[in-house]
Amino acid sequence: MTRFPFADRPRLWGTAVSHYQVEGGDLCDWTEWERAGRTHGEPCGDAVGSWQRYELDAHLAAAAGVNAFRFSVSWSRIEPVAGRYDDAALERYVRLVDELRALNIEPIVTLFHFTHPVWFHGTTPWTSPASVDRFAAFTRRVVEAFGESVRLYITLNEPLVFALAGFFDAQIPPGIADGASVAPVVDHLLAAHCAAAAAIRELQPSATIGIAHNMMAFAPERRWNLLDHALARLAHRSYNRAMVEAFTTGRWDFLLPPRTRVRGRRDGLPGSLDLFGVNFYSRLHVRCPGRQRMIGDFAYLDMTGEGLTDNGWEIIPEEIGPLLKEASRTNLPLVITENGLADASDRVRASFIESHLVEIERAESLGIAVHGYLHWSLLDNYEWLDGFGPRFGLYEVDRKTLARTARPSVEAFRRAGRRFLG
Ligand code: FCB
Repeated sequence: MTRFPFADRPRLWGTAVSHYQVEGGDLCDWTEWERAGRTHGEPCGDAVGSWQRYELDAHLAAAAGVNAFRFSVSWSRIEPVAGRYDDAALERYVRLVDELRALNIEPIVTLFHFTHPVWFHGTTPWTSPASVDRFAAFTRRVVEAFGESVRLYITLNEPLVFALAGFFDAQIPPGIADGASVAPVVDHLLAAHCAAAAAIRELQPSATIGIAHNMMAFAPERRWNLLDHALARLAHRSYNRAMVEAFTTGRWDFLLPPRTRVRGRRDGLPGSLDLFGVNFYSRLHVRCPGRQRMIGDFAYLDMTGEGLTDNGWEIIPEEIGPLLKEASRTNLPLVITENGLADASDRVRASFIESHLVEIERAESLGIAVHGYLHWSLLDNYEWLDGFGPRFGLYEVDRKTLARTARPSVEAFRRAGRRFLG
């Protein structure tokens, strides 16, 4: 059975948000992290108030010409106490899905987007195999609540980014820096994906299942330096390719410099997906050895002279094609599950969208089918490491009133969507 692309909606054009970044008032591990003073940016607080405004947001997305809307559900709201589910929280998401359906917009539900209930790390942490069943049980509840109204699930957002930032360099909760924990965490995340996929298949056999993998271009900082080249290749293999291989062969094996080897095997991985999602933003230049750190430096550099985004990322649409080619090794239909930029002035956003679309079309002309594009993001929102500084929205959000105002690039996004949807 081919579940994806959908016969009645062969291409998806939409926007993406995640629960914690927009909802506000969500008590979870990230809130505790903020209270402990471990965030770089300000606390998320009310975020942009989407918990009360999701229907409005759905209408704003409709006005931007989307036929798909990616959002995530908050595990901490739905399972505030281990094993006890909050029906009112589930109901709230069901209402959003109903609104999207009424607007003829495909809901795309992400089950895990970085945050956890406060009890999670203390009882069934990702270092323990018990995490797998916990996530599967949560998934079952969500899928039961949505029934047939949701036909596309993304199980995990950026599992490798989460494993590295949460367990290798302690940038996000649970804030662990222990190389030895990365291998079991990656294993349990991928096992949790498989268990969640099996639960979805059982409850909604026709549902489509995807994953969102962050892919980053890596280039040598110095063209003729062999070490820079070697480290860039290693970074590509570990960061981009390892997950592509994991979902293709069921095995992964990569190195986190200087000497953390991460490998494992889950035979259920191939066959667990109907689509492969790619989150693409930028390119890092690599220098080895680093100026201070022995291993190497990873930096965003303005190589094209076009300037960096507000949060300092290089704009490099040309790199999306090779990464899509890499992702196509899975032999799965591809969807861009996130792509966007921080641009408060909105001077660059329209050309960013257009230039990425041109590169996607170029990839398609080379035989790589891309069935969807989801822009990050619909609205300005809370950014994990930087608070409310970076403005990723097609719609600007006033920090005081939380009023949403269309930025001029909404029009360009709409036009691009018309072209993409044909
Ligand atoms: C991605 C995350 C998303 C958002 C963007 C800017 O890596 O998935 O939540 O923070 O970056």
